[in-house]
Amino acid sequence: YINFCTPRERKYILEVLVNGLKRLEYRGYDSAGMIDGGNSTNTDNKGPPIAVIKQRGKVSALEEKINSKKNEELDFEFKFSTHTGIAHTRWATHGVPNCVNSHPQRSDDNNEFVVVHNGILTNYKSFKTFLQSHNYEFESDTDTEVIAKLIKYLWDNRESETIQFATLVERVIQQLEGAFALVFKSRYFPGQCIATRRGSPLLIGVHSKSKLSTDNIPILYSSCKLQLCSGMKYRTCFQQTLFPTAGTNQSMQLCRLNSTTELVTQNGESEGIEFYFASDASAIIEHTNQVIFLEDDDVAAVVDGALTIHRVKRGKSTESTTRTVTSLQLELQQIMKGNFKSFMQKEIFEQPESVVNTMRGRMQWEEQRVVLGGLMDHIDEIRRCRRIIIIACGTSYHSAIATRQLIEEMTELPMVELASDFLDRETPIFRDDVCFFISQSGETADTLMALHYCKKRGSLTVGITNTVGSSISRITDCGVHINAGPEIGVASTKAYTSQFTALVMFALMMSEDRFSKRKRYLEIVNALKELPEKIKEVLTLDAEIKKLSDSLYKKKSLLVMGRGFNFATCLEGALKIKEITYMHSEGILAGELKHGPLALVDVDMPILMIVSKDNVYTKVQNALQQVVARHGRPIIICENDDEESVKYASHILKVPHTVDCLQGILTVIPLQLLSFHIAQLKGLDVDFPRNLAKSVTVE
Ligand code: F6R
Repeated sequence: YINFCTPRERKYILEVLVNGLKRLEYRGYDSAGMIDGGNSTNTDNKGPPIAVIKQRGKVSALEEKINSKKNEELDFEFKFSTHTGIAHTRWATHGVPNCVNSHPQRSDDNNEFVVVHNGILTNYKSFKTFLQSHNYEFESDTDTEVIAKLIKYLWDNRESETIQFATLVERVIQQLEGAFALVFKSRYFPGQCIATRRGSPLLIGVHSKSKLSTDNIPILYSSCKLQLCSGMKYRTCFQQTLFPTAGTNQSMQLCRLNSTTELVTQNGESEGIEFYFASDASAIIEHTNQVIFLEDDDVAAVVDGALTIHRVKRGKSTESTTRTVTSLQLELQQIMKGNFKSFMQKEIFEQPESVVNTMRGRMQWEEQRVVLGGLMDHIDEIRRCRRIIIIACGTSYHSAIATRQLIEEMTELPMVELASDFLDRETPIFRDDVCFFISQSGETADTLMALHYCKKRGSLTVGITNTVGSSISRITDCGVHINAGPEIGVASTKAYTSQFTALVMFALMMSEDRFSKRKRYLEIVNALKELPEKIKEVLTLDAEIKKLSDSLYKKKSLLVMGRGFNFATCLEGALKIKEITYMHSEGILAGELKHGPLALVDVDMPILMIVSKDNVYTKVQNALQQVVARHGRPIIICENDDEESVKYASHILKVPHTVDCLQGILTVIPLQLLSFHIAQLKGLDVDFPRNLAKSVTVE
């Protein structure tokens, strides 16, 4: 039957989709698209048409396009009693950002099958050739279009009229290699929406006014027959790599399905249930905090308002047979900007609290103990290991560099590796190694691949992530959630200082029984206690840094120099400047200055030097002299009582003193603020720097 939707309901549906996309936009913002269709069946057995709307640029551009459409034009999409919408925002991997390449991708001009995809396929070319040879015409340059055409091919060549939509999807994913989270809709299956994943994250939000009848959704196993296409070399599902070598792109999908049935509610109550599929909980948190994290190769089907999860049986499988409904702690307010101009600014100013949250319940101040609960079961094994290898990308990698010296001092063990380089070198890994994976998102492809690589070689794996339920936090043997709260700004700030803090706590935990380290241990514990107040003090430099930005924002380049514990600040500061202001910036180890970079120094080159009163103070003073002797005019970040460095500074930013191994937390914040203000002066959008996305889920 067809029940007409009121204009208010129509508006609500669009708002749910557009708002969901906006909350996910930080993960990709090249182009966006959505579909909406009713769920009733037409007399031709095809269901109502599916409308696809796409737009290049940010989600707001898509929103404008929708708003500019006349009501009558959108009418046919919103006339039905139940609705399924799918929306997607893209970070281009295959094909430039434009309308045709944005998602949903479709099977044909009639939108018989449509799909949105977060991920990257590694075997799409052979399928494209195959499908083209069977007269399927392609319109986009994307890998995703192959999926839409492939499902149509399987439908066109179905062996039975009663084939299920979910079965078609199971067959499709058996052919795919790479990483994907997919949501499908079809005119042939009105009232149904199918989602699946491998490698890319996908969760289901469940909203119900009445209590759910079960907290565990049983998995339905099927033995899916492979549909072999002639001339193609296919693998069987048993040969598929569960953890593919390809990464995923940043696109994402959000699906809302309004249920009219009560299949999963308790006590026969009549309220309906709403299901939301999304790449990330932030898209759905305003509707529900009850989520199910799908696992690789799960196929979730919502059919007439009821959810089932299927997967293909794999021989003597030991896979769990249920998926749990998890309650997330995430609050809507945490993913809103509040009074700040941008998420980045908000997150910089949140650092006094985010660092406290990282330590909360773990620093037992009275006993002067550190208890990282997530590592307790494995701490003896970690203490006995031959090597600690810390693997990460970007800012997360810098947090490992920042704490390497301390971990080395307290454990005499660590090595730090960039995930991509670690994999390129096929670094030897052994069973008695402990490998740490640091990642804010917990989804970074390079880090995730390095994790699979190390797991395969039998090492103990430890995750340090900010995202509960992320792939890295689920796949590692144990770990620490840094609890910094959602980080939305593409440039990582509070996650860095929380990763830094967590790694320092780890170093302390490793050395708590060592008598020889006791004095050092206590010095650091005491400094951690005072850290949040000192961060607050650094943040009061904001106005001064804003003024300083005036003299820098027209420059082409900015060199950041330091050494020892502050070298990581140089790398991280330079990364912030690059990614947010598009200025060239380099973090230079002051010890290397005379081996090349000194040639860059003259009266015009902006130079920032970081000086702390630590074991390399005299050496940094030497570097300062070398810069000044070449007419360099350094801006110096130093400690409050450093009267010596002040003499050589063109501008001085003073930060409070803390223990040497934590000083980097205080020296990086002025650089976070500096990059923010320079970007503002240049009129740039700090939360959406060009060409970047928050979770880099492609290789
Ligand atoms: C820079 C930045 C990136 C990330 C890197 C790793 O501000 O955010 O360099 O640090 O892409 O991401 P995660 O930590 O999510 O693995």
